[in-house]
Amino acid sequence: MRLFLDTASIDEIREINAWGVLSGVTTNPTLVGKEHQSPDEVWKMILDEVHGDVSLETTEQEADAMYKQGVELAQKATNAVVKVPMTPDGLKAGRRLTDEGIKINVTLVFSPGQAILAAEIGAYIVSPFIGRIDDAAADGMHALRQICEIYDVQGYETEVLAASLRHPMHVVEAALAGADIATMPYDVFTKLVKHPLTDAGLKRFDADWEALQAELMKGGA
Ligand code: E4P
Repeated sequence: MRLFLDTASIDEIREINAWGVLSGVTTNPTLVGKEHQSPDEVWKMILDEVHGDVSLETTEQEADAMYKQGVELAQKATNAVVKVPMTPDGLKAGRRLTDEGIKINVTLVFSPGQAILAAEIGAYIVSPFIGRIDDAAADGMHALRQICEIYDVQGYETEVLAASLRHPMHVVEAALAGADIATMPYDVFTKLVKHPLTDAGLKRFDADWEALQAELMKGGA
């Protein structure tokens, strides 16, 4: 499963990218808005920093305008993936983009039925929003498992990207469900690396090592 960062913050991206585990980035208008800079500048920095897929979201509502915006976004870099929403206009624009060989990520997907539509237009990625399904008092992980199973039995090549992940267990469960990609915010990435026993073990190793150094110094060895 590839790991993506769900952010538009170049500082967060640089930090996690340095770990050597980052395969891509997803952005959306809300995340870009948090940067308080020109979207073009924000996207350029991210596209330059990350070698893998970077999703850039369309903001036009109507199919023709969304298609044109999608073509412009795709031209920004070879690793740009165009995000279109799961709406009739998003499907129309998305189909035109995929027919031209442009990689699209169908976003705001909340049901297996919507995921079937995304696969049928030849999307490169489909993004079910797990956490937001849970917020609506439904089972996001169940929807993800159903989507992965449907794609498997139907032989759809669209990659399933588990989005709106809120904690490390969401990432683990997405991996078990067979998601191709998990995108998560910076804080989930940092929680994923942490374990209290790792911290305690390291502290103990450090103390024992220091004690040995002191012993050797004392003995003049
Ligand atoms: C995915 O591409 C979306 O940007 C994201 O995962 C949405 O997550 P949220 O529900 O935490 O806003």
